Amino acid sequence: MTTAAWRVDVITTFPESFEGFLEVSLLGKARAAGTVEVRVHNLRDWADPPHRVTDDYAYGGGPGMVLKPEPIIAAVEDLRGTDGWVGLLTPQGRPLTQPRVAALAARPHLILICGRYEGVDERVRTLVVDEEISVGDYVLSGGEVAAMVVIDAAARLVPGVVGDADSLVGESHADGRLSHPQFTRPEEFRGRRVPSVLLSGHHERIQRWRRAQALHRTERRRPDLLEGRVLTDEERQLMDEDPPWDG
Ligand code: ADE
Repeated sequence: MTTAAWRVDVITTFPESFEGFLEVSLLGKARAAGTVEVRVHNLRDWADPPHRVTDDYAYGGGPGMVLKPEPIIAAVEDLRGTDGWVGLLTPQGRPLTQPRVAALAARPHLILICGRYEGVDERVRTLVVDEEISVGDYVLSGGEVAAMVVIDAAARLVPGVVGDADSLVGESHADGRLSHPQFTRPEEFRGRRVPSVLLSGHHERIQRWRRAQALHRTERRRPDLLEGRVLTDEERQLMDEDPPWDG
């Protein structure tokens, strides 16, 4: 049985920014395997000839240009089909988190609109956008890099994209906390040794140490991730057993 690809249509005034990003690494392989299908569209293709203008001055004045509604709405209506869910990348959007990423990966078909300039005519949002998405509290020069963030983070969660699905389990943010420290060879580097428990070959002991370190890191670096969640007695015991590793 073949399953349908996870599909993304991107609407942008800078389609060339996606070159390279789509070709390499996990995403390049997933596209070649047909698990993920990403199509990048030039907004100008839906703008009126001969000049194919996609932006205009803001009503009310002020600096900067605003993306016009007609080409974006026409593009969405052409691409949406029966199952398209429309996201608009904007710093005013709902912050992207790992649970939101998982929800996007579970949708069969995303249409991502990349905002530009001072913004997008508000009627785009009210008429066709299902959700506005922000990738962080800072301003990018456009939604393109933000759309790449969404595609990259979500594609990894599409079944079959990451070969060993177990590797997704202990990742940072996978279950609301940060990951444990990782080490590879050599055993000693510039006087710093790999924690001896990792060399012990004692699987259960290693798992306990990793869980303890993940919890210490989260508590120290990102206590906000634990807010509203009380650590269990078992977790506290793990943390007491293995104090924070500081190398
Ligand atoms: N466009 C500009 N800044 C952005 C951000 N932080 N998130 C999403 N889209 C954006």
